[in-house]
Amino acid sequence: METKQLRVNGKRLQSTLEDMAKIGATPNGGVQRLALSDEDKQARDLFVKWLRQIDLEVRIDEMGNIFGFRKGKDNDLPPVMSGSHIDSQPKGGRFDGILGVMGALEVMRVLHENKIETKRPMAVVVWTNEEGTRFAPAMQCSGVWADALDRDWIYGRTDINGLRFEDELMRIGYKGETPAQKSDVHAYYEYHIEQGPVLERKGITIGVPKGIVCLHWYDIYLEGEANQVGPTPMEGRHDALCAAAQMILKVNELPSRMGGNLVATVGELQNEPNSRNIIPDKVHFTVDLRSWDDELAIKAWELVKCDFEDIAKERGCPIRIEETWRVEHSPFDSKLVQNILDASDSLEYSSLHMVSGAGHDASYMNQIAPTAMIFVPSIGGRSHVEVEDTKWEDCEAGANVLLHSMLQSANE
Ligand code: GLV
Ligand code: MN
Ligand code: MN
Repeated sequence: METKQLRVNGKRLQSTLEDMAKIGATPNGGVQRLALSDEDKQARDLFVKWLRQIDLEVRIDEMGNIFGFRKGKDNDLPPVMSGSHIDSQPKGGRFDGILGVMGALEVMRVLHENKIETKRPMAVVVWTNEEGTRFAPAMQCSGVWADALDRDWIYGRTDINGLRFEDELMRIGYKGETPAQKSDVHAYYEYHIEQGPVLERKGITIGVPKGIVCLHWYDIYLEGEANQVGPTPMEGRHDALCAAAQMILKVNELPSRMGGNLVATVGELQNEPNSRNIIPDKVHFTVDLRSWDDELAIKAWELVKCDFEDIAKERGCPIRIEETWRVEHSPFDSKLVQNILDASDSLEYSSLHMVSGAGHDASYMNQIAPTAMIFVPSIGGRSHVEVEDTKWEDCEAGANVLLHSMLQSANE
């Protein structure tokens, strides 16, 4: 069959996404499907059922990554792969991650029902724990698969309640037999919502990132001296939360201090004992730095780290700093980027070359295989929130671009 006329089934993609959005649905229209939670398991079970319905060969590896393989004419050739993640942020959206998985599934469904044979095998993949919100860092299991992160380090990571990653992976029944080890991949495409305002503002349907910024994650632990707030004079206090507050503002000021394209955020904080009438004696907070320029992010960190040490000394609050995770910026494969631009043109969708400020499993895949991404607009530029939304027609457009980009690579 001539594949040029092939299109995804937009209605089916919509109802698939709507079914997934029921799993972990939140009262305000979002989803909460934290990595290795019961909701993650439920969504995985449904996904695996859908893979089997179209005769894909399902493999689950020791990190819980799920692969659905489709045979090609020559199965000795490396496959063309596409996927993303099923886990979400707390009170997250209905599109982040899951669109890329359901988009790739829709591509497989179209190929299946039209009995299309490609030269190369193809695969759809779910990477475990992309968000890193329950178990830090992010993109953990694409990282292990690509040999960039250590399996046992990830197994030992704990959530806020002290539960271990490996134990939770076993509990939900997704610690598979297959080793999480990279194999040759001819091309990796990841389809995702933009998560920012650029495409919508410019009225463009398809975003084609030239790559992903670097991501640095740090964990800061401060100790103070707890005491009754009333009788304790202001002088001589060792208030860990006040020290943290000063440090947080230093992080917020970093981008204007450094110039360039840096963003800097403190998103998580735990305060103990968290009582209004006790001076806080234990604080943990996180720092997230991102830039296209790795050196700039490192310089920014060295600067703010000195500030942290000075503030801790002034306030008599001992500090412990963990340099938890870094992934370098990822410039994508120019041939794959061009495939996506060409597919957008021939489907008559407008497209824009841009940068991804969000992290994706594509960062780690980019280290081992030609990689590129397809973005569609986020309404109001909102993401990682319950109101995260994308027009159904844009979801369909992005999946069509994925279909034709994958076909292009799969017949090489
Ligand atoms: C992942 O969603 C990230 O950009 O932090
Ligand atoms: Mn995502
Ligand atoms: Mn996300």
